[in-house]
Amino acid sequence: MPRSPDRPGAGRWVPDGAERGDVDALAQAAHACRGCELWRDATQVVFSAGPPDADLALVGEQPGDREDREGEPFVGPAGRVLADALDAAGVDAEAVYLTNAVKHFRHVERPERGKRRLHKTPDVAHVRACLPWLEAELAAVRPRVVVALGSTAARAVLGAPTRIGEVRGQVLDVPEDGPLAAVPAVASVVVTTHPSSLLRLRDRSGWDDAFAALVADLGTAARAARGA
Ligand code: URA
Ligand code: SF4
Repeated sequence: MPRSPDRPGAGRWVPDGAERGDVDALAQAAHACRGCELWRDATQVVFSAGPPDADLALVGEQPGDREDREGEPFVGPAGRVLADALDAAGVDAEAVYLTNAVKHFRHVERPERGKRRLHKTPDVAHVRACLPWLEAELAAVRPRVVVALGSTAARAVLGAPTRIGEVRGQVLDVPEDGPLAAVPAVASVVVTTHPSSLLRLRDRSGWDDAFAALVADLGTAARAARGA
C-alpha cells in the first residue's frame, strides 16, 4: 500500500538505538511524531506505563477518551476491567508494561451529543504507521512475553490478520516474518480479547464467562513470562 503524504510512518521520529530500559527517550520523542494524521485531532500522544524492564508487556489498541485527556494508557473503563482481570489472575498490575498499537486517539466528534468523542477503530494503515514505536519500545523493554489485547493489537504484534477465537490463550512463537522477529528477548506472544469488549457485556450473562476467559489468558501469559 503506498504511503500517503500525511502518513509517512513513525520511523523518522523514532530515535536510533534506545538502550535497554530507556523507554523515556522514546516517550519524549513520540510527542513530535507526525507519522500519520491521528496526532491532529488528539490532545496528546499516549505512550506507555509500567516498568521499562518488565517481563510481561500488554499491547492494547489505542488510547480512549480518558487516556487522551490524561496522557496515560488504560486509565479509563477498559483499564478498570484490565486491572480487575490482572488482579484475578494474580498478576501485579504495577509490574506489567502497558502500551498500545496506535498512540493517538482516533475518534469522531458528535457535536449533536454535547461534543462527545466516539472511539473509531484505527485502520491497518494507522497500525502500520505507528509500528516503529511498538518495535522500538519492545526492543528497549525486552519482555519475555507480549500479550495482544484484541484484533488491532494482534495485527500489530503478529503482523497479520488474526482470528482471536482461534488462537486465544495459546503461547505462540514470535512469527519469523512478523514485526517482532528482530526484537531481541521476546520469546512468545499470547493473544486474548480486548477488555473493552467486556464492557458491552456488563450485567449480562456473558460477562462472567468472558471475564474468566480473559483472566485465564492473562494467567497463561504471566506463567510463560516467569518461564513456568
Ligand atoms: N483501550 C486500549 O486499547 N488502550 C487504552 O489505553 C485504553 C483503552
Ligand atoms: Fe505517530 Fe502513531 Fe500518533 Fe500516528 S498514531 S502520529 S504514527 S504516534
